[in-house]
Amino acid sequence: MSYNDVFILAIESSCDDTAAAVLQNDKVLSNVVAGQKIHEEYGGVVPELASRAHQQNIVPVIDMALKKANIDKTQLTAIAFTQGPGLMGSLLVGTSFSKSLAMSLGIPLIAVNHMHAHILAHFIDEEGYEKPDFPFLALTISGGHTQIVKVSSFFDMEIIGQTTDDAVGEAFDKSAKIMGLPYPGGPFIDKFAKDGNPKKFLFTKPKVPNLDFSFSGLKTQILYFIQKNVAINSNFIEDNKADICSSIQYTIIEILIDKLKLAVNQTGINSIVIGGGVSANSGIRKTLKEAQEKYGWKTFIPKFEYTTDNAAMIGIVGYQKYLHHKFDDYSVTSNARIEF
Ligand code: KG4
Ligand code: ZN
Repeated sequence: MSYNDVFILAIESSCDDTAAAVLQNDKVLSNVVAGQKIHEEYGGVVPELASRAHQQNIVPVIDMALKKANIDKTQLTAIAFTQGPGLMGSLLVGTSFSKSLAMSLGIPLIAVNHMHAHILAHFIDEEGYEKPDFPFLALTISGGHTQIVKVSSFFDMEIIGQTTDDAVGEAFDKSAKIMGLPYPGGPFIDKFAKDGNPKKFLFTKPKVPNLDFSFSGLKTQILYFIQKNVAINSNFIEDNKADICSSIQYTIIEILIDKLKLAVNQTGINSIVIGGGVSANSGIRKTLKEAQEKYGWKTFIPKFEYTTDNAAMIGIVGYQKYLHHKFDDYSVTSNARIEF
């Protein structure tokens, strides 16, 4: 440990995961996430229940992050937290806690944009993980977002394409719901897709101009397809589960890859990173790995624990902001619809 080491406690509470991490400079010392099972029975995140669960989880989660990192709170240099976007009630829990703790310790407070964090998670120092060079393109795919971002530096990012309706995670989750799979359904589609034929059932891809996306039509198409076939064979879903999942996943990946190809052509940038919960999808990871050979792209796929919502990614943005003296006043507030 050197005297100028920076220790950042990072707190993430934008949706339904309460997360805390401790970073020593750009290295992760601990990364703790408490999920919220309660939403499963409702088939989606219930905001009121999410903020209550954050209230219960936040102290034990932060305690555990400090313990695992083997440091005392008095050793912290700064506190970074998710300011937005997200659910207001959830964000407020992390924001209020971060403000109070920073104030009581007399250390700087750093507000972080959750979507920037999904992108900059690639700068966490991990043995054997090569970091991308600027500029690069980021495909951020989560339950709430689908974006292609041109990233020119840590603090210079521009959205060049995004969804006009549902996010890609919703396309996974809503398709899964139509099939009667539990919430969130993305990981289940991924699991069953592994044993299926991706070309068994053909779905049409939406025609959206430029680099924008649309997923609501696909969801409707899948709904009608399932209803039509279940009317003929009531066991249709059970009998074809793997093939249906594989075909849905294949179509979603095709939609994403088509737009990435266009983005590479338009920008001349062929370095691509992925972030957001959906980038945990094994089909997407495999396709992007193969794209290195197939299209000559350089693709960066982070460790699984840094793709879904986590606090380490908030910490790495906090560290970069700390280095650039980008601090926030103790009067800072949550912003559910923060500008990118
Ligand atoms: O980034 P995230 O953890 O939360 C936000 O939405 O911000 O993303 C959650 C989304 C959910 O829609 C979930 O179904 C999806 O990520 N997801 C997956 C997989 N793992 C998580 N989708 C497809 N395949 C997966 N393996
Ligand atoms: Zn997220």
